[in-house]
Amino acid sequence: MIERHPKNAPGDWYVDTRCTDCGAARNVAPGLIVEQDGQSIFARQPKTKAEIAMAWRARLLCPTASVRTENRNEAPPGTFPEKLTEKVYRLGYNAASSYGAHSFLITRNGGNAMVDAPRWTKPVVKALEERRGLGLVLLTHQDDIADAERYAAHFGARVFIHQADRARAPFATDILTGREPTRIAEDLLAIPVPGHTKGSVAFLYDERCLFTGDSLAWSFEENDLAAWKDYCWHSWAEQTRSLARLLEFPFSFVLAGHGGSRELPQTEMRARLAALVERMKQE
Ligand SMILES: [Fe+2]
Repeated sequence: MIERHPKNAPGDWYVDTRCTDCGAARNVAPGLIVEQDGQSIFARQPKTKAEIAMAWRARLLCPTASVRTENRNEAPPGTFPEKLTEKVYRLGYNAASSYGAHSFLITRNGGNAMVDAPRWTKPVVKALEERRGLGLVLLTHQDDIADAERYAAHFGARVFIHQADRARAPFATDILTGREPTRIAEDLLAIPVPGHTKGSVAFLYDERCLFTGDSLAWSFEENDLAAWKDYCWHSWAEQTRSLARLLEFPFSFVLAGHGGSRELPQTEMRARLAALVERMKQE
């Protein structure tokens, strides 16, 4: 039974009561979709073209299909993949099996790379086929694997995961080890960031985009970088040290599995990360 949550703003768009509060819709429609009573709701109806695009993105990526509209229009073409910056896209179609984690696509000359995976769905397959397929699947950690195996098999892609998290991805072809960064390609660096899980890895693309899995995210509520102790499954002390180490690397865009993604001037990103690390030491 699909029921509209009563706290939604009146109008065409709403979130139903099956919402699992994964937060994914709020990450792509900040301010428009907000948390209320332990789930997402529409705080107001989308009006501008940009807001309507945000609502459609939320509808297509919600893992429980809880973002709904009473009109029967189809999503505008090009809703996903959503271009975030040069050669980097959000894939959408988040999987319930990864609790709604975001996944991304990098359209590289050396072969396209998927960071974590969406649910298996034809629109993503078509989008990849239109962009010369898929060469690499980069798994940030064991929680956000979703349908990575099926995408990798379909496109014949290599799959990277860290040794400590590999049990959940026995199909992986390339096992990262230890704590030292591994250069996957000239434009791709794997940086182990143990903490959230023992085998968490951040992937740095083009010395500007850092794919952080669930180790580091942008909080639209706090308007700042954030890490979550309540969702740290391995070691908060290690996660703190791992994030401190990220200060050694250049990046201006944080792209998160759970939580928001945000681009900032590199100096501001670095200062915010340093401040976050100091806050983490106090927790
Ligand atoms: Fe996770």
